[in-house]
Amino acid sequence: MKLHRRWIPMVILAAVVMAGVAIYLMWERAIAPIQPPMPSSFDSQLTLRGARVMALGDCAVCHTARGGKPFAGGLALATPFGTLYSTNITPDPETGIGTWSLDAFTRAMRRGIARDGHQLYPAFPYIHFTRMSDGDIAAAYAYLMRREPVVAKTPPNDLIFPLNFRPLVAFWNVLFLRTGPDTPEGSRSAQWNRGRELVSGLGHCAACHTPLNLIGGEKWGQAFEGGVIDGWEAPPLTRLAHGPVPWTPAQLVTYLRTGISSAHGAAAGPMLPVTQELATVPRDDVEAMATYLFSLQKPTSADTGTARAAAADQLSIQRGSVLFAGACAACHGDMSPMQSIGGRPSLATSSAIHAATPRNTIQMMLEGVPWQGERRLHYMPAFDEALGDAQLADLAAYLRATYSRLPPWDSVSQAVTELRKGDAAK
Ligand code: HEC
Ligand code: HEC
Ligand code: HEC
Repeated sequence: MKLHRRWIPMVILAAVVMAGVAIYLMWERAIAPIQPPMPSSFDSQLTLRGARVMALGDCAVCHTARGGKPFAGGLALATPFGTLYSTNITPDPETGIGTWSLDAFTRAMRRGIARDGHQLYPAFPYIHFTRMSDGDIAAAYAYLMRREPVVAKTPPNDLIFPLNFRPLVAFWNVLFLRTGPDTPEGSRSAQWNRGRELVSGLGHCAACHTPLNLIGGEKWGQAFEGGVIDGWEAPPLTRLAHGPVPWTPAQLVTYLRTGISSAHGAAAGPMLPVTQELATVPRDDVEAMATYLFSLQKPTSADTGTARAAAADQLSIQRGSVLFAGACAACHGDMSPMQSIGGRPSLATSSAIHAATPRNTIQMMLEGVPWQGERRLHYMPAFDEALGDAQLADLAAYLRATYSRLPPWDSVSQAVTELRKGDAAK
């Protein structure tokens, strides 16, 4: 098609306007560097509050590399768009945030912009942290600035084109970032409002528990409807009943603070560090979270999506039964000594075994529950090297048939293969 001459100026004008809008959106000023503040310039009460903020926000979980110094960054985060590294947020002036003023830090937490003006990637959950109060942001800043500076250079990211071009995040932000704290709802209790602030803000629970769209944004209108993270299923928090026993607020508090609920199972995979952090914060905070989460509950639909499942494979279940007796019954058998240690959940009420997909049951066998020291006795070895794909599939079929009254899962073998390869991480 030939473009009529008359249109050419219009097209050029449109292109210029669009480029202008793009540059306007992308352009962020640098905030002047400061001399690293003296640790003694921060009030110790504020620093103490900061420690609580850091735990509620899981800052150490992401900003500490395996075996690395706390908050010195360098942890690799795998995303569908490539690998991204968390940065050093200790007060080192060269490799950390030592020259950041409180203004620069606040802008990063609320809008995902670094001190020098570059866009930060949303793997840093600023779309949730933006709901934090000013007080909490100042407390986190005080806490970080009072720590020992650590010299640690962040490894370069390895992202696919064009996402390795940071300014594009500005467009993403137009779609997904709504800045600033929520206004408290007067009709709700102070506890509910605090719970909302913690769950949807600092606690960024939606980052894992909400389904993502193709460009890695949380799907609109589906907050807390369940997501997939690192190959694990983060179950919906709007329908908290993934086993035969419904949750109560008290059980939820216990689960979030201890990583174990006698009627639902243990926190594992990416949820385990969340509970380890929540173990250190005041009980009130976690009770507020539970109050808010219970207000989100929707009726569960009868359709679990498994109605069309294949008929149970009896041979597979039998093979699984033999494997279970050998590899698992010492800990999970009804009469096993370990099972009798106070309050250990039975597999018969496990959320993983009652889930719509076999994902978390398989992940549990592949990864186990890491040893957390003498104080926490719920340890399970990882079976990824001891058991083959077919054995894992047989065990999953056996567990589902024995410990739930639900129809068998379909495509268990396929799920095992995908999870082992890490393909299903998305
Ligand atoms: C889910 C993982 C995750 C969590 C949780 C997290 N961060 Fe980060 N954060 C990141 C990543 C990844 C980056 C780097 C983003 C980039 O380079 O674009 C980052 C960047 C930052 C930056 C910018 C630093 C710089 O040098 O550019 C600050 C400040 C920061 N985080 C503070 C915090 C604080 C405070 C908390 C806790 C309240 C926290 N983060 C929790 C992943 C996380
Ligand atoms: C050393 C003891 C031990 C062994 C052996 C063991 N487990 Fe576990 N398993 C645990 C612990 C501890 C948990 C966390 C929940 C709890 O306390 O029961 C757990 C949790 C689970 C869960 C998830 C329950 C939930 O929802 O939290 C599944 C599924 C599971 N194990 C399957 C197996 C299978 C299959 C085997 C054998 C291949 C096995 N386990 C071997 C100790 C063990
Ligand atoms: C880093 C990802 C991640 C974050 C952040 C996260 N979760 Fe989870 N959560 C998971 C995964 C994965 C599971 C399933 C594995 C398991 O049960 O251990 C889970 C399980 C749960 C369960 C158990 C549900 C059931 O029926 O067994 C609850 C409750 C829960 N999360 C609440 C929360 C709350 C509240 C927050 C915010 C404070 C939160 N989660 C933040 C990943 C996450």
